[in-house]
Amino acid sequence: MCCYESFVHPAIRRYEKNDGVAVLQLSQKYTSWDSTPTEADIQGFYSSEPDFFLVAELDRRIVGFVYGRESKSVPDEALRRWKATKVGSVEVLAVEGQYRRRGIATLLLNPPVRGLRGERN
Ligand SMILES: CC(C)(COP(=O)(O)OP(=O)(O)OC[C@H]1O[C@@H](n2cnc3c(N)ncnc32)[C@H](O)[C@@H]1OP(=O)(O)O)[C@@H](O)C(=O)NCCC(=O)NCCS
Repeated sequence: MCCYESFVHPAIRRYEKNDGVAVLQLSQKYTSWDSTPTEADIQGFYSSEPDFFLVAELDRRIVGFVYGRESKSVPDEALRRWKATKVGSVEVLAVEGQYRRRGIATLLLNPPVRGLRGERN
């Protein structure tokens, strides 16, 4: 008998307070020592950039998250070079190991990128 895993697209939504434990676990498991957020950091992300703090939820389980921010005070010269009006940076991005290479990180990054471009999500 042969088995295959079915895959349902995860829901991408804003982080909510109840997601704290799952996000902390993913961070501790997968992010590097210098970017692992603490519980206090996670609370800070939540308060400061709710549009750029998103989770991927599959079957009620958090399987990935991204936290980033809009970069302010980007020099005009850099904006011209990048042909950009706004710039964002990703602080932390992680996807559960068994769900990688299925586009989940891309799905997590799409809404903030669209937001920076001024497109509707
Ligand atoms: C990096 C990470 C978030 C990618 O998540 P993901 O859901 O697997 O990414 P996606 O499926 O959206 O990948 C999109 C593209 O990124 C590239 N990519 C993703 N993982 C890659 C890898 N390990 N090696 C090379 N390219 C990779 C590929 O071009 C991929 O497209 P493809 O699968 O069509 O070739 C995930 O591997 C992870 O959590 N890593 C550990 C934590 C980490 O390093 N985070 C980043 C710094 S905070």
